[in-house]
Amino acid sequence: MEQHGVLQQTVTLNNGVTMPLLGLGTFRLKGLENLTRAVDAALECGYRSFDTASVYRNEGDLGQALHQLLPKYGLRRSDIFITSKLSPADLGEGAGKACLRSLTELGCDYFDLYLIHWPGKQGWRSDDSRNRAAREESWKAMEDLYQSGTIKALGVSNYTETHLSQLLGSCRVPPAVLQVEFHPLLPQAALLSWCKRNGIHLQAYSSLGCGDLLEKEEVKKVANVYGCTPSQILLKWALRQGVGVIPKASAPERITENFRVWDLELTNSEAEDLNGDGTEKRYCWDPTGVA
Ligand SMILES: NC(=O)c1ccc[n+]([C@@H]2O[C@H](COP(=O)([O-])OP(=O)(O)OC[C@H]3O[C@@H](n4cnc5c(N)ncnc54)[C@H](OP(=O)(O)O)[C@@H]3O)[C@@H](O)[C@H]2O)c1
Repeated sequence: MEQHGVLQQTVTLNNGVTMPLLGLGTFRLKGLENLTRAVDAALECGYRSFDTASVYRNEGDLGQALHQLLPKYGLRRSDIFITSKLSPADLGEGAGKACLRSLTELGCDYFDLYLIHWPGKQGWRSDDSRNRAAREESWKAMEDLYQSGTIKALGVSNYTETHLSQLLGSCRVPPAVLQVEFHPLLPQAALLSWCKRNGIHLQAYSSLGCGDLLEKEEVKKVANVYGCTPSQILLKWALRQGVGVIPKASAPERITENFRVWDLELTNSEAEDLNGDGTEKRYCWDPTGVA
């Protein structure tokens, strides 16, 4: 991890690409007006990374908001990091075209990071054995776009260790990033250490438990000790493990609050106390049954 100016920290991915450790999540952030308000607040306080996906149906509005606002902050496309994801509907033969469609929506000519969103194809059963071949076919198309410079880094989302091992066994370009649900009630210790051993950066989604974890007494207690907010504690909990975060917020004050985490330090015991009694909870989809 390196300090990037005074604003934020970055991680160098396994192919040399630099990625901010904290970005703005945009799931359920829709409409040009809402995107513009959120992106304006984010750029102003220092965010340089934005996470979207074809299934969020907001790539066009995010692209327009960025196009309009980057000049206001003296920024260019190359100053920011944009991630998008392949829709499960396009897993398989449609992957290459789907990526190019997303780029057109965003009005960009490259992605900093492009992820396979889900290891299974939409409309197929989770245990359908064709899912594996569809993942491989998508990855090959993404590798071609990587070789041509259209995607700067490749990754996957919601992959288990099994899916990742299969991918490492067949790929030309190894994944640089795994994006998964990751928070104190789903600490994924084994997956994190597997990723670290294999040079894959783990990026957390739903770090705030979709807002639910902000109400937990353990989290509020540690926040009180530091005079900070529950959201900042949860984000720091992931960042201190070298895990990137992409909290989603709509209100400008929340977006700013979520970015002010760099000076905060948690002790090991405070971080462990947040993990509760070890009962795992998922707020999003569970990929363990996908063949
Ligand atoms: N790869 C995947 O399958 C996948 C799955 C889920 C999410 N993601 C990505 O990860 C991002 C984050 O995950 P998420 O959206 O599921 O949930 P999250 O970031 O854990 O939580 C978002 C919720 O917390 C609230 N919130 C944020 N900051 C707050 C603050 N400082 N104080 C109080 N409330 C606050 C937001 O409220 P408001 O919005 O109302 O302000 C929103 O309801 C997504 O937006 C998306 O980009 C990826």
